[in-house]
Amino acid sequence: MTRRRFGAGIFAGAMAAQTPPSRGEQRPTYPGIWRFRFGTPEPQTPVSARHYPVAESALRDLAVVTKCPISPSEITGRRSRRGYHLRLPLEPGEMIYGLGLQFQSFLQRGSKKTLRVNADPAADLGDSHAPVPFYVSNHGYGVFVDTARYAAFYCGDKVRVDDPHEPPPEQPEVMAAVAQLPKQFERYHMAKSSHVEVEIPVAAGVDVYIFAGPQMREAVQRYVLFSGGGALPPRWGLGFWYRAYGGATQDEVIALADELRSQNIPCDVLGLEPGWQSHSYSCSFTWSSNFPDPRKALDKLNAQNYHVNLWEHAFTNPTAPFYADLKPYSGDYEVWDGLVPDFAGSQARKIVGDYHDANLVSAGVAGFKLDECDNSDFTHYWSFPEISKFPSGLDGEQMHCFFGLRYQDTMQAIFERRKTRTWGLVRSSHALAAPSPYTLYSDLYDHREFIRAVANASFCGLLWCPEVRDAKDNEDLIRRLQTVIFSPLAMVNAWYIRNPPWKQVDREANNAGQFAAGWQDMEQTCRKLVELRMQLIPYLYSAYVRYHQSGLPPFRALVMDYPLDPQTWAIDDEYLMGDSVLVAPVVRGEKKRRLYLPEGDWFDFWTSAKISGQQWLDNDVPLDRIPVFVKAGTLLPLARVTQHTADPAVFELTVRRYGPGDLLAVLHEDDGSLSGPITTVQLEWRENEDAGSVSRPSNSTSMSYSVTRWERTTE
Ligand code: GAL
Repeated sequence: MTRRRFGAGIFAGAMAAQTPPSRGEQRPTYPGIWRFRFGTPEPQTPVSARHYPVAESALRDLAVVTKCPISPSEITGRRSRRGYHLRLPLEPGEMIYGLGLQFQSFLQRGSKKTLRVNADPAADLGDSHAPVPFYVSNHGYGVFVDTARYAAFYCGDKVRVDDPHEPPPEQPEVMAAVAQLPKQFERYHMAKSSHVEVEIPVAAGVDVYIFAGPQMREAVQRYVLFSGGGALPPRWGLGFWYRAYGGATQDEVIALADELRSQNIPCDVLGLEPGWQSHSYSCSFTWSSNFPDPRKALDKLNAQNYHVNLWEHAFTNPTAPFYADLKPYSGDYEVWDGLVPDFAGSQARKIVGDYHDANLVSAGVAGFKLDECDNSDFTHYWSFPEISKFPSGLDGEQMHCFFGLRYQDTMQAIFERRKTRTWGLVRSSHALAAPSPYTLYSDLYDHREFIRAVANASFCGLLWCPEVRDAKDNEDLIRRLQTVIFSPLAMVNAWYIRNPPWKQVDREANNAGQFAAGWQDMEQTCRKLVELRMQLIPYLYSAYVRYHQSGLPPFRALVMDYPLDPQTWAIDDEYLMGDSVLVAPVVRGEKKRRLYLPEGDWFDFWTSAKISGQQWLDNDVPLDRIPVFVKAGTLLPLARVTQHTADPAVFELTVRRYGPGDLLAVLHEDDGSLSGPITTVQLEWRENEDAGSVSRPSNSTSMSYSVTRWERTTE
């Protein structure tokens, strides 16, 4: 059917309503993944525009599932005047999660989310830096709707007049499980069958992918591997990041670098904010007079083992050297007087990428912070409108969905050519982003939302940085920094404060150079936290290798690992880091922290006290401790504290035994290149020796990790 038939005339609505729902046509895909085609999809979708290939061989390593977890007859679609409409089933007691980097909610059953790209969500409506049309169910499967439109997901709260209205089936177990959810979910008929309704604007059809479990973890793994596998950071990406004041001069940045080293505050990455450019809104991509000799500055910082990360956004100022070349390959609206590169086309990607390679990366820049690539409809009203047109054929709505992704790809092409890894920051992303070496961040600053985002990002193959800036008081700073240390990217973003926040948390006083009395104590507290991050790097790196190779996110909401325990279904303020560490961050003002430990035995990271799981605890939370628990059976490697990851001492380990249990740990060594071999090193505790051993494959040439101390924790 053509669109015109539906688009015109007073009967169009009635005709559309008569269109019978149809089943999708099944198309071949990969093991454990089913694809259904409805109507005629748009040519530009996340799958059709993908940069990274599917990680096929890793998909084949997952458990074989031969039956689609949703009955294909229950997935229906129909064309309407408004675009395309899909309907998927939900079972009684089924919970769904995901839909991207949602700040304000976690368990999505019962909500409506419109997946618009937006930096300043005014309410919990689905607007996000990284909306992703993928959800995962606690019944062990995932659903991906392959669209670059602002799709609306009605997650189980709509009932059609012609839906069967029989009384709820007798399922006492489901009723009992749902009854354990917090009060705010009661109204959504969680215990009944329902549907997810998805409306995709404009499109005349869409592909839907179903990812098998059997549990949530595997469904997410399959989605991440379908995306291309998880991104693997260089080790330095897991160290501590400090972004200098936006207006800092070359000398001030060098003084900061010296200060961090002389004060023994570990740091691997120094970020430069807008002031490095001669024009920054829009961007000139050329050094400002603040940096009279950027080469010298980069050489000096690199010699101190700092990796330099440059802030920018893509809106290209007329003074940018490649402005004229880019103009034919940009959109028809300006942003901040600059061009909007058409990153959906290879020409714009090449022009922007080549310039960055030749002028910045070749000079010693290790990576970028790709800012402002989202949109703003509620507070500052910037960015290109949805009515924009781009030479590649995209409109503004599609381009907003793609802009962050394709911007990341543009930069990644540089590092792929150089066969090196980068690690960066990005403010917008979308579907299939897992392989992209970028971590999301925001200008928003609600600490609880930042914690929830760590848990939420895990469902969709995204990474999130709950960065620290200024703070309300010392308690706020410490609590925020604790969260950051146990997060995908550990960063202080001092872009609007001249001095480190530990010297003065208050923005105005900080910028006036008025340091708090006794700031040295705060510096010591923060130093200790940053040191803890350095100790965790070997453990974290292995969690990232697992993400890279098998698609399992390094940070995960509890429900992903414990989907059968209804107590975990709504927990959005705790998460797992790797397989063995549970983190329950605390926000300012909390004197007791109510937290849940799932089944099994756990050990308090700080006291080594053993605690049985499957219970809620009201923990005392002294300011110097973020609640962290280690699963029984873990061998936790802790690295020697170094000032940066280039110091070989990062490979010297103390291994703590939290037994009894499997007492194996897997670590990884490699040459740090983009795709060099990764060696697996195994640590094993030998009970009778009260110590352990390290083994690596006999053909391994890398000899990095060594254990200097085996520690038995009390039980
Ligand atoms: C914001 C960004 C901040 C900082 C600032 C500089 O858009 O979120 O982290 O970089 O720009 O102007």
